[in-house]
Amino acid sequence: MLLIFHQTVLILLMSDSQSLLNPAELRAETASRLWRVIQYEYSESIDSVIKPNLESPEQQAWMSAAIYGCCRYYPRYQNQLLQLLKKPIKDNEGEVKALLILGMHQLSEMKVKAHAAINETVNACKVLDKLWAVKLVNGILRNYQRSLDSMSYKTELTQYAHPKWIIKQTKQDWPKHWRDILDANNQQAPMSLRVNLQKTTVAEALVKLKENDINCEEHPHINTAIVLQKAVAVEQIPGFFEGYFSVQDPAAQLAAQLLLDEKSQDALEVLDACCAPGGKTGHLLERMNKSSSLVALDVSSKRLELVHENLQRLDFKAKSNKVQIVCADAAELNTWNVETENQKEFHRILLDVPCSASGVIRRHPDIKFRRNLEQVQEITKVQAKLLHSMWSILKPGGRMLYATCSVFNLENSLQIQKFLGTTKDAKVLPLDIKGAINTVWGSQILPNMNDCDGFFYCLLEKTLH
Ligand SMILES: C[S@@+](CC[C@H](N)C(=O)[O-])C[C@H]1O[C@@H](n2cnc3c(N)ncnc32)[C@H](O)[C@@H]1O
Repeated sequence: MLLIFHQTVLILLMSDSQSLLNPAELRAETASRLWRVIQYEYSESIDSVIKPNLESPEQQAWMSAAIYGCCRYYPRYQNQLLQLLKKPIKDNEGEVKALLILGMHQLSEMKVKAHAAINETVNACKVLDKLWAVKLVNGILRNYQRSLDSMSYKTELTQYAHPKWIIKQTKQDWPKHWRDILDANNQQAPMSLRVNLQKTTVAEALVKLKENDINCEEHPHINTAIVLQKAVAVEQIPGFFEGYFSVQDPAAQLAAQLLLDEKSQDALEVLDACCAPGGKTGHLLERMNKSSSLVALDVSSKRLELVHENLQRLDFKAKSNKVQIVCADAAELNTWNVETENQKEFHRILLDVPCSASGVIRRHPDIKFRRNLEQVQEITKVQAKLLHSMWSILKPGGRMLYATCSVFNLENSLQIQKFLGTTKDAKVLPLDIKGAINTVWGSQILPNMNDCDGFFYCLLEKTLH
């Protein structure tokens, strides 16, 4: 039985035989969820809107691809829609706007046959009880189909499907690479795994995955990373819940490697200052020797729940003397670092700061319409504050790795340049990351380079006096 309520589109699927949505219902449900994404009705990722799953895995996959794709090209569709409409659609009729975008996406990128894309999207108006929109949606989509070729590449905004401020910033920072960066942002990122070398080897892991029909390859440069040919649900990954693997981009796997020397026998006190959801925390623990310890800190208690889950899965929760998880603003040292008369100092600090996430747009295309330049400028102030306060609790001779998943210089090289200008006891250590663009302030990995997300790393050492 299928019950669809006006506006909220609550769908209850109750029997297997009737669990498949018809094409118009599938589009109505997709548009309804897409509108929630556009309105930012989620806290972490658009995946939470794409779930709960539809009964049919094929329809779920269609909906997920459609929502991600609509987000990826949203700046283009929004611009083109404004040209096609006589007057903008009101926000209280947002599902109709989402239906139009979904229709445009089917026509331009999903290669759905034009008559099916248009007719079923028009029929979805009826499912959503938007009878007034039937003529409008039909007219706009037909018009769009006719002018598709001439419209798509009229301006840089429509050609690259990015908002103007991202295009401008990327051009300014990467005059030789900006086109490649914007194109890379529109590609789907592969799924990558990190092998837990405490439990297995990459060679064994590859065999295990292939035995389970998961096509994959060892990453050419990053010795813990395996790249899958096709994304799979984590439930399908053998040993995932026993902590043999973590899902993590190859570039993100460099953080722990750059900060911690695997062979070191020293008892190190390590701080992961912005740790949630804990991807790199787990990796630090996998690399640390038995005599070292870790404090994992984050300001968000909700995101820290994910750190707890991750460490539980990787088997690190039991070893509570090794890791301490703390909820605090890292920069407010007096709120969390007050154990002794003097503040505790660390040998190694990972500072994976909050950032624009402009290096991971291919994974989170909603960044294109979620962020603006003013927000990024505000984030740079938080980054600068964190850099200075974390530096104050780094031991002389200690090392701090500054990391962002951004390609913008104001968060990366310029941030470090400013920091060095006021911090006399800091020096930048050279990094040797294959394919990265090195400057005197750090190493930039651009998105899609060697299957990696865009990342910036700078390894700083505190001089001994
Ligand atoms: C880029 S994410 C960290 C990702 C994490 N290192 C990982 O690999 O899974 C940045 C984190 O910084 C946290 N954060 C932001 N401001 C903070 C602050 N002042 N103190 C501590 N954590 C902060 C955010 O809650 C967010 O979880």
